[in-house]
Amino acid sequence: MTKNDITITEIAAFCKKTGLIFPNSEIYGGFSGFFDYGPRGVEIKNAIKSLWWNTFVKKRQDVVGIDGTTITHPKVWKASGHVDSFTDPLLDCKKCKSRIRGDHIIEDDLKIPTDGMSLDEINKLVKKHKITCPKCSGELTKARNYNLMFKTNVGPIDNDESTAYLRPETAQVIFADFKAVTDSSRLKLPFGIAQIGKAYRNEIAPRDFLFRSREFEQMEIEYFVHPKDVKKCPLLTKKILSKKILILTEKNQLENMKAKEISIKDALKDKIFPNPWLAYFIYQTHKWFLDLGIKEKNLRLRQHRKDELAHYAKGCVDIDYKFPFGWKEIHGNADRGTYDLDQHSKYAGKPQQIFDEETKEKITPHVASEPSQGLDRAFLALVIDAYEQPEKDHTILKINPRLAPIQVAVFPLVKKDGIKEKAEEIYDMLNEQFITIIDIAGSVGKRYYRMDEIGTPICITVDYDTKEDNTVTIRDRDTQKQVRCKIDILKETIKKLFSKEITIKDVGTIVK
Ligand code: ATP
Ligand code: GLY
Repeated sequence: MTKNDITITEIAAFCKKTGLIFPNSEIYGGFSGFFDYGPRGVEIKNAIKSLWWNTFVKKRQDVVGIDGTTITHPKVWKASGHVDSFTDPLLDCKKCKSRIRGDHIIEDDLKIPTDGMSLDEINKLVKKHKITCPKCSGELTKARNYNLMFKTNVGPIDNDESTAYLRPETAQVIFADFKAVTDSSRLKLPFGIAQIGKAYRNEIAPRDFLFRSREFEQMEIEYFVHPKDVKKCPLLTKKILSKKILILTEKNQLENMKAKEISIKDALKDKIFPNPWLAYFIYQTHKWFLDLGIKEKNLRLRQHRKDELAHYAKGCVDIDYKFPFGWKEIHGNADRGTYDLDQHSKYAGKPQQIFDEETKEKITPHVASEPSQGLDRAFLALVIDAYEQPEKDHTILKINPRLAPIQVAVFPLVKKDGIKEKAEEIYDMLNEQFITIIDIAGSVGKRYYRMDEIGTPICITVDYDTKEDNTVTIRDRDTQKQVRCKIDILKETIKKLFSKEITIKDVGTIVK
């Protein structure tokens, strides 16, 4: 079985069994839209976060990070437009009182794309196709806007004045801190401010496991450029421009056509990207996913249609992943222009501007690109992409070694005759460099299968020959092949296998 045959329910069961993800509060029957990362899952999640932060913040001279709070002054959300516009269409069942997300019921019943569908269109389609409640077939009310922000009260008083919101995106904290960051750091345009953290949305109908939850994490950058430079991006090299990527354009969507491979250069010419900076960051994120091992055929870009753009966006392109439930967004990237800084200037009564040394003027930088990466959707896509089940009781998680919760497992063949002690020596040596465990329980075959299931790329077996000739068996998860290797070159060999400098066949003769 490969990811093409597996359902999201089966993936959720696999994640629970292997300690990747648990439904939150399961002892109380679960809590819809909330999930906990288990012992294996938290390692993968932390590895994804740190690889993202390394690539997009630490290794770049032009991006700095912040770590803001999840509850901020409520005026932030009034200024950003979220209090008035951050809504999804909601319908109620008149009979069983179920609450239903309007665009989802249309998508499920009519099998048509519904991104950005208006309330009017939803009401017309519900009427025309006599769509009823999926639970009890009861009549539905008209669709109305439902705000997705979670409300809370700050302080001991519980009234409208103490109302605050849990942030629905990390981005606004970056905008609200814009002056604090630029006043305290010596940043020159163009530059980015990044943040990783929790976001909360009171989704009408959480579904598809981690894909649509009510508490999730985002990894976001706001990339600010001088307004005069929005149309020229020196970071776009020839290599990037010639890269061909599968893209579903606005035109394709309007004409009901399939996605096509288009070079970044041609996509820019055809105005699929609102500006070259956004093309640059989309390319970098797409590459980041490929470097982590996602199969290219399972990724595509989707240009937002004009009628579905968020209230702040001048243009937007998503990265979609081919999930078992269809192509869906894992990453959004919008040109937000000066919308947010203008709004905060207005609402705070303080200009959110910086001084331009060249023109000796105060300017409002333009957010040409906002890479917005859902961490949980990245996790889900990486796990699904790595999932393989060659036979009924054998699952292999072919996850990138850099993400694996355990990178090397050391198995003493037996506990006696000094074999266990030798294995412990090897464990101590490898554990300096790799996340290593020692596993003594059960037959070696069972131990291999256990490690395959949680994605351990390398298993080392220590046996009687080890004592004679200082060699061990290396077993490679992805090919299931085994070779003998000298202990003194073991560390170096594993390092090269992980970086794909060599394959298992290069290590030695395959043994049975
Ligand atoms: P969708 O259309 O699927 O609801 P969205 O357009 O609302 O997604 P954005 O507002 O663009 O999503 O959010 C940016 C990113 O945050 C998404 O690409 C996704 O990775 C993540 N994200 C948004 N909502 C959720 C959610 N409910 N659960 C998990 N991740 C989410
Ligand atoms: N910051 C973009 C989003 O969350 O939609």
